[in-house]
Amino acid sequence: MKILFYNHTGKVSGAERMLELTLAGLDRSRFKSIVLCPKDGPLVEMVRGFGVRTEICPELQLRFTLRLDLLIKYLVSFWTVLSKVRSTVVEVDPDVVHANSIRAGLVATAATLGLGTHVVWHLHDLLPRHPFSTAIRAFAVLFARTRMIAVSQAVADNFAGKFFSLRKRVSVILNGIELDRFKQVAGKRNAIRKELQLDETDFVIGIVGLLTPRKGQLALLRNFPRVLEQVPHAKCLIVGGAVFNKDEQYAELLRKTVAESGISDRVHFLGSRADVPAIMQSLDLLVMNSSVEPFGLVIVEAMACGTPVLAAISGGIPEIIQHSRTGWLIKQGNDRLLVDSIINLAESLETRQLIATRAREHALNTFSSSRYLRDLELFYQATAPVTQDQPEVLAQSEAAKLAF
Ligand code: GLC
Repeated sequence: MKILFYNHTGKVSGAERMLELTLAGLDRSRFKSIVLCPKDGPLVEMVRGFGVRTEICPELQLRFTLRLDLLIKYLVSFWTVLSKVRSTVVEVDPDVVHANSIRAGLVATAATLGLGTHVVWHLHDLLPRHPFSTAIRAFAVLFARTRMIAVSQAVADNFAGKFFSLRKRVSVILNGIELDRFKQVAGKRNAIRKELQLDETDFVIGIVGLLTPRKGQLALLRNFPRVLEQVPHAKCLIVGGAVFNKDEQYAELLRKTVAESGISDRVHFLGSRADVPAIMQSLDLLVMNSSVEPFGLVIVEAMACGTPVLAAISGGIPEIIQHSRTGWLIKQGNDRLLVDSIINLAESLETRQLIATRAREHALNTFSSSRYLRDLELFYQATAPVTQDQPEVLAQSEAAKLAF
């Protein structure tokens, strides 16, 4: 089966990391991957590294706005990208176009008008409350040849909204990770603590992810002085970079907040790091404080590392963590609760160890890349038409067929 992956941006965040895992792991004897993406950003090199055929298209400029000048600019961009996607589809003739975002799904569906191509929208985002979100749902309803993969049930429900006919077309495939990369390695914790100049006695919390407002680093930093009053040996690592449009300003605000509260010696900005598994293993607690989190890959990664997680409830997170069993969940946006929970967990090594042990087991059982890839392969088989050379695989795909 031939699959054309279309990614609307060349930058790399969670959705692209899932694409990376997919390209690396799909069974090449049954699935031939081709990627179409912009050349700006690290994605294209990553894809080429897998020896996968890569086609280049312009970067899509498309955001929620009601400003007329911007709308016109976005329409022009949409049209330019659409032409390239269409010509690539005509040339490649894939069995499935796998569009790796809602935006990519819109383009890929419009670009294949009249071609009858199967288009899969991989939903990594939650649609905000906006008139355009309803328009996107209505657009999806119109095209019966589209199928959706949602990274969590929360994303599936959000996408379908009040359009009940869409529900049948959305399948939930929870993300997976390469568990081996996050395996605990003896001595790693100490080595990385040494490198980062952290004392063995420091209580180290970390927040890992893009520096962007929805990830909630600002609230964590604003409240960190209150944590320090009770836990003076606490330290906070901020891991991640500013990747998208206005995020550099936000990163600046984070640095200013730290400097103004006089806690510069207790907070370290590490930027984007290639050694996230090692850093996670040096943490006593991973904090996830997002206001919008469709899934939360970082949580699963921390779980696999054996690092306890404290997370604000949002999007798909309650589908990963069971409160007080496999992590600690708190209401989103409640500063006091955030501070108190960090302090309580700092004071209870036993609770941290208990949830971390159960979480690790849960991650190993539920979030492996092999489980993810198996679900995905069954999904493709059920989505694309029957072909002569894969009858045995189709026989196994009953579970996936039920989703349709
Ligand atoms: C997006 C989402 C994140 C999810 C990732 C992978 O980056 O914001 O929650 O984990 O995609 O699906």
